[in-house]
Amino acid sequence: QNYTERYRPQFHFTPAKNWMNDPNGLIYHEGTYHLFYQHNPGGISWGAMSWGHATSSDLVHWEHQPVALLARGFPDSITEMFFSGTAVFDAQNTSGFGTDDKAPLVAMYTSHYPVAQTLPSGKTVDANQQSQSIAYSLDDGMTWNTYDSVNPVILNPPEEYSDQIHDFRDPAVFWHEETQRWVSVMSLPGLRKLLIYTSSNLKDWELVSEFGPANAVGGVWECPSMFPLPLDGGAEQKWVVQISLNPGGPAGNTGSGTQYVVGQFDGTTFTPDVESVTQANWVDWGPDFYAALTFGGLPVEDRVDIAWMTNLRYGGATPTDPWRSAFTVPRRLSLKTINGKATLSQEPILGDANYSSTHWDILPAGRTKLDFSGKALDIVLSFSTSESTHFGVIVRGSSELSEQTKVGYDFEKKEVFINRTVSGVSGFDGTFAGIFSAPFESIDGKVTLRVLVDWSSVEVFGGAGEVTLASLIFPSDESSDVYLFSTGGSTNDVEVKAAKIKSVWV
Ligand code: FRU
Repeated sequence: QNYTERYRPQFHFTPAKNWMNDPNGLIYHEGTYHLFYQHNPGGISWGAMSWGHATSSDLVHWEHQPVALLARGFPDSITEMFFSGTAVFDAQNTSGFGTDDKAPLVAMYTSHYPVAQTLPSGKTVDANQQSQSIAYSLDDGMTWNTYDSVNPVILNPPEEYSDQIHDFRDPAVFWHEETQRWVSVMSLPGLRKLLIYTSSNLKDWELVSEFGPANAVGGVWECPSMFPLPLDGGAEQKWVVQISLNPGGPAGNTGSGTQYVVGQFDGTTFTPDVESVTQANWVDWGPDFYAALTFGGLPVEDRVDIAWMTNLRYGGATPTDPWRSAFTVPRRLSLKTINGKATLSQEPILGDANYSSTHWDILPAGRTKLDFSGKALDIVLSFSTSESTHFGVIVRGSSELSEQTKVGYDFEKKEVFINRTVSGVSGFDGTFAGIFSAPFESIDGKVTLRVLVDWSSVEVFGGAGEVTLASLIFPSDESSDVYLFSTGGSTNDVEVKAAKIKSVWV
């Protein structure tokens, strides 16, 4: 596997070949990060949904593993697909799946049944029904056994939502220490509702509360999850609910996106902060951030989020081969009070690189070419209020700049933006070639932007990561020039710290 095909991400996760969508079952266990993902082992388009698998010791270098849950009946007569879900370490063997000396990992996922059938458990399902099932692993996540004698463990949505049996999915399970119970959050996508269930053994589940609709409701709600985070790094904790929706993403984005709501959770009910439900809070303001999920098994202050880096509008049409789709860089989350509101902040996790810095007291108006170029880069810009109206960086520029991707700050609108109108191939979707922006107030007139460039993506982190924008681009191979731009005047106190990022696949 050389991982040097056209558009192949060099430091973002991609499957070796074939289709990938949501991250699933993210868990840190016995020194290993496990990344499972929605995968079609039989092709480059969505289908035959199975759980692909990769492992890592550092969240940077990944090793591909055999498919963990293969669609039942693959390839020709599929009776059950393994849709999105999560995994937990059942340290106390509450499930009884463990042995005296081995506690199990347990995965909870959605069983999607393409055909009506009576299951080995004796339960009967409708064609295209979605139910929640579990599987366990006694070898630290490498191989899995589905709980066929009982699955699905949640057959139907609650009685009052019985018309939603075809749209009931994506359980996110975690251990709630205070109440000593398992909690699982899942979605009724069409109703923009989350259902919260609890269990003492991961097998018997009881509905305890609901949340939603709230904030952004312009699309179906999918892939919910819920986790605590320290507020401002202190002893107080708040809970974050992360919800993907399709369509109905941030303004200017015609497709999918991911929102979050901050509040309290008592083991039964999620109560949002008043200031968190006045408007949509976007985890990422770019077009390409969906189905985000965090790792279980890490300390509370160490929450790492990974998303499927595409948009459901064109996720099936992006021009890559022999794989389709990448994940965002892993992002460590924190919760900071900004303007009286608990706000998510994100910091990318990357391997080591050699950074060099350059400083300009005054950077003149116009373009300044850097003596630094490349297709996989980490560029940190800081700069101050000035005469200019816009300041930023052009990446993946061709020699005449007919092809380029612009990332910068608009001092007038107070927005971080990414412009991919002339970034390369975009004909697979009429809305792809666009400009995306996020509101961002500079602090004391100073702005910091961190720009991660890979062979087919740009991710932008504004400030200390209070706003981020993930965006795919498909530039030609030769486009690797980097320029600074200062529009409408000069920009003061410009610092560029940059490094080439090496392939994590060699
Ligand atoms: C989100 C999603 C999930 C579902 C999975 C199926 O992209 O639609 O709701 O579980 O993909 O692959």
